[in-house]
Amino acid sequence: MNLPGRRLGLHSSTNLSSENLKSLINRSLELSRGADPRSFSGRNAILAFFESSTRTKVSFEVAATQLGMVAINFDITGSSLSKGESIKDTAETLASYDPSLFVVRSKESGLSQLFEDWTSVPTINAGDGEHEHPTQAILDLTTLVERFGSLDALEGLQMAIVGDVLHSRVARSLVQLASTCGIEVSFVGPESMMPKYIFPNVVRHSSFEVERYDVLYMLRIQRERFSEGESLEVNKYRSRFSLTKERASHIRRDQVVMHPGPVFPGMEIDAPLIDIDNSLIRRQTEVSIFARMAIIEAVLEGSIDG
Ligand code: CP
Repeated sequence: MNLPGRRLGLHSSTNLSSENLKSLINRSLELSRGADPRSFSGRNAILAFFESSTRTKVSFEVAATQLGMVAINFDITGSSLSKGESIKDTAETLASYDPSLFVVRSKESGLSQLFEDWTSVPTINAGDGEHEHPTQAILDLTTLVERFGSLDALEGLQMAIVGDVLHSRVARSLVQLASTCGIEVSFVGPESMMPKYIFPNVVRHSSFEVERYDVLYMLRIQRERFSEGESLEVNKYRSRFSLTKERASHIRRDQVVMHPGPVFPGMEIDAPLIDIDNSLIRRQTEVSIFARMAIIEAVLEGSIDG
């Protein structure tokens, strides 16, 4: 029997060791260069997305398929949740179809761990509320290693995570794993969008000076997570924190621009900048397949510690 809280899958960046992270990045890069994937032929992965997603859901589906698995999309809109079935009953019902893996996205923090506790099926957190999005952080760091040439080359890089850090599960996962790789992270944004949590060595800046950083990691304003009374003065925000054409004119050739997607063009970044030479935004999406293949391999082999 699985003990509550025992980890089989990947739920958080907090518990991922440096060795584990490095081996996931290296394996992702091997796969991106054409290494043979492991085969989990005949095994099922159930993707249970209780919140909308394009890139995470589809890339997990492609990744599982590339590993020989059958990827089953659980469609919540037509499910018995609408008849009042509880999420626990739903998880237990899905588990009875013998999946080797759950991939879970939710509005609530901690649902992937609950799925695993209820069912003993290894589960990957595909984004839970404002808590974490560990597979996004792993693919982001893999993209950076590919761009800068090696893991060692990340040591000492300056990264600005810009914008709505307060509501961002991506930021929460990325700051931890970027620090593990020796990257020095700054949060840049208005005071109202700074998180309540304190992360060691993270500096906060209320002005965005693009020249200071090697990596400009832009965040979407997550209005869907605003609480009552929270608001945004769009013009003021854009003039201070968006990556506008004017601001981008100060970017050096060796700086890179990243964004986890989905992008809201004209808000946090001007649309044409998504495709400038410095931008890794499209590459992040491509690399996500290989990173998620590496993560599934590690989970199914029992070698993950997150
Ligand atoms: N980055 C990310 O999680 O995108 P989706 O919401 O489209 O999955």
